[in-house]
Amino acid sequence: MSQGKTGTRGPGGVLRTKTVEQSISDTEEPDHRLSKSLSAFDLMVFGVGVVIGTGIFVLTGAVAKETAGPAVAVSFAVSGLVCALAAICYAEFASTVPVAGSAYTFAYASLGELPAWIIGWDLMLELALGCAVVAVGWSGYIRSLLDNAGWQLPEALAGTSEQTGFAFDLLAFLLVLTLTAVLVAGMRLSARVTSVIVAVKVAVVLIVIVVGAFFIQADNYDPFVPPARDTGSGGGADIGAPLVQLLFGYTPSTFGLMGIFTGAAIVFFAYIGFDIVATAAEETRNPQRDLPRGILGTLAVTTVLYIAVSIVVTGMQKYTELSVDAPLADAFKATGHPFWAGLISFGAAVGLTTVCMIMLLGQTRVFFAMSRDGLLPKTFSQVHPRFRTPYRSTVLLGVTAAVIAGFTSISELAELVNIGTLFAFVVTALGVIILRRTRPDLPRSFRTPLVPLLPVVSVLASGWLMLNLSGETWLRFVVWMAAGVLLYFLYGRRRSRLHGGAGRPAA
Ligand code: ALA
Repeated sequence: MSQGKTGTRGPGGVLRTKTVEQSISDTEEPDHRLSKSLSAFDLMVFGVGVVIGTGIFVLTGAVAKETAGPAVAVSFAVSGLVCALAAICYAEFASTVPVAGSAYTFAYASLGELPAWIIGWDLMLELALGCAVVAVGWSGYIRSLLDNAGWQLPEALAGTSEQTGFAFDLLAFLLVLTLTAVLVAGMRLSARVTSVIVAVKVAVVLIVIVVGAFFIQADNYDPFVPPARDTGSGGGADIGAPLVQLLFGYTPSTFGLMGIFTGAAIVFFAYIGFDIVATAAEETRNPQRDLPRGILGTLAVTTVLYIAVSIVVTGMQKYTELSVDAPLADAFKATGHPFWAGLISFGAAVGLTTVCMIMLLGQTRVFFAMSRDGLLPKTFSQVHPRFRTPYRSTVLLGVTAAVIAGFTSISELAELVNIGTLFAFVVTALGVIILRRTRPDLPRSFRTPLVPLLPVVSVLASGWLMLNLSGETWLRFVVWMAAGVLLYFLYGRRRSRLHGGAGRPAA
């Protein structure tokens, strides 16, 4: 072994690393062992189950209408490319370090404890917050279906929005609680339910593409890239503008070439989830072979579908007229096809359920890994004796996400989810380069080509999308991360297994 248990950087150092062998052997401890039941196909079902969601069903309309026009299809392509680069780095890591925890585990084995903690903390933005955001989107679709049937929830229970102001989103809250119970009951059940729902969702997306193609009118694509437009902040610093525009002193604008990139940074939400496939590594029968297949396969399928859906939808309806709540269904309504619209709404509502569930699952697994390493209280990595699931962390996170979903509006938080995820991509790509140097001996069933060039390009690409997110989002992100670092120095650093052993506080 080229590095001791605590790395070359000392037991007290914040850059101490956990060896890959240690990470893998941790998964063999009987009280902390998850059952290994998933195949490559299950992983792809999981991947597609979480990836296709609010991004394509909801954000496509808003981005076309306000940011990129019909060129939203190009935004999807740009974003897909950024994800492909990150996916290749993820695949190498996941096939080398096949244990629960995703970017967190990878960072622990390569960059050190503090960076790993930062990533774990950061992943809460992606997963717990993402789960809450999707639950709110789901609730919107359900309310729209209830509306069709003539039922309406009282406004105070129908969720927060710009129109209604403060309210509690009862449906989103109940959805997350129900999914929490399903996850506590065990992976097998949830995987089976997931595959049925994923089939419905993919069928709906295919309906949009195939049926919708018949209703395209070519003049809706004119202009394909609408000319750049000033957002009219009066020349003052507009914290809602993309950071790149603020940094380089551009007048904040939408549409045009920059609009395509701003759009890409927002629709990036639609791809979130392929990395979550890696969090199920420990529950995969043959992670060495199946993980890279699951991750890259998921991304390939979704990129093609997204580009096709956005081309069809912006061809069906002028981008200025697309709806922001249910653009896919409403494009069918607008062209006089309410039957298809109803079917699509139903499928979307069903499909968003799995997105929400798998994000929660990913979050519990990251939390589980952090607890097993002693960076979070040990009690959260106890596995249920009968269900073999980390039930305590699942309940804690599920209830927290449910409360956030109850009090949150999508628009505020989707960007925060994106910045958190992109940051994890940056760290993972750097980790590939570092682990190749520190542990060249490790078997890697999947090797990223062109190291270090490809990971460096991945870092630059993810960084570029981050810069296209708003100054406001950056501010929230920095505050959240600063809180995380503080917590590490107050708690995790001294309780870490690498420091005092087995998660006990060091004297
Ligand atoms: N990619 C997932 C979605 O679009 C998170 O909902």
